[in-house]
Amino acid sequence: MKSFIKLISLTALIGLSSITQAQQYPTRPITLVVPFAAGGPTDVAARMISIPMGKSLGQTVIVENTVGAGGTVATQRVARANPDGYTIFIHHMGMATAPALYRKLPFDPLKDFEYIGQVIDVPMTMLGRKDFPANNLQEMIAYVKAHKDKISLANAGLGAVSHLCGMLFQSAIGVELNTIPYKGTGPALNDLMGGQVDLLCDQTTQTVPLIKEGRVKIFGVTTMKRLSALPNVPTMDEQGLKGFEVKVWHGIYAPKGTPPAIVEKINAALRSALQDPAVKQRMVDLSVEIPSMDKVSPQGLQTHLEAEIQKWGPVIRKAGIYAD
Ligand code: MLT
Repeated sequence: MKSFIKLISLTALIGLSSITQAQQYPTRPITLVVPFAAGGPTDVAARMISIPMGKSLGQTVIVENTVGAGGTVATQRVARANPDGYTIFIHHMGMATAPALYRKLPFDPLKDFEYIGQVIDVPMTMLGRKDFPANNLQEMIAYVKAHKDKISLANAGLGAVSHLCGMLFQSAIGVELNTIPYKGTGPALNDLMGGQVDLLCDQTTQTVPLIKEGRVKIFGVTTMKRLSALPNVPTMDEQGLKGFEVKVWHGIYAPKGTPPAIVEKINAALRSALQDPAVKQRMVDLSVEIPSMDKVSPQGLQTHLEAEIQKWGPVIRKAGIYAD
């Protein structure tokens, strides 16, 4: 009986201490893990929201880039991190494509995480090096077909969205190119600007300023409508690649077991960051969309992730594409 009472008191104490922990949270800096290299679109998105999130939480949110294997190295790191709210994670739709692309995935997107909320939806741009010998999509396709053994197409690793967009492009034009994987499209874009690679499909979060400065050549945007940030750039669809559409959604996660009260605090900080006028303006400048607030919620992200896993699984399996 005595030991039973001891057990009850111990459980009550543990319960109390986790309530206190959640009430006091955060008492130290929080790490926001980015699964791709610094300077790339996921990194840019993380840095846009980390400062206002830190302001609302009253602690610094430090961005940490953990790179490799199309984002799966970082995802595994976060799945195994302490569920105390001090490690959180931003990832794009790679979270939904990984279960089909990797046969031996060391984490389960539907079991190993708490969901904080969706963040942003980002269009992509099909780019070439500045001196690529073509001035529109049709000329580019003709040149690529004529020189296919010599053309390199960069991406951010197997399973990255730049990889998916590149695959979609190759299948749309019926040509297989020499693909070069990087640890993020940050370094891939540097090599595109340096002329070391020929083509790259990348998100507007990173590419709009470089397109405007003429540091890369733009062949089209991957949305059905033209973008307000690049009104003179035609869509891939209007230039003949009918139905060519890629928009990249993102979410924020925490390790499974992070207390609900802490998840709620991080979610509130995320919502307020996305409503910050400076952040909103930056998103408009980059043609990035902020999802409706019902999607910036744990349930909104979970429902979307489940649907996206259902959507991509059969497509990837049918194509027989594996990243491992
Ligand atoms: C990045 O942040 O480098 C990209 O989001 C990677 C990708 O293309 O998936």
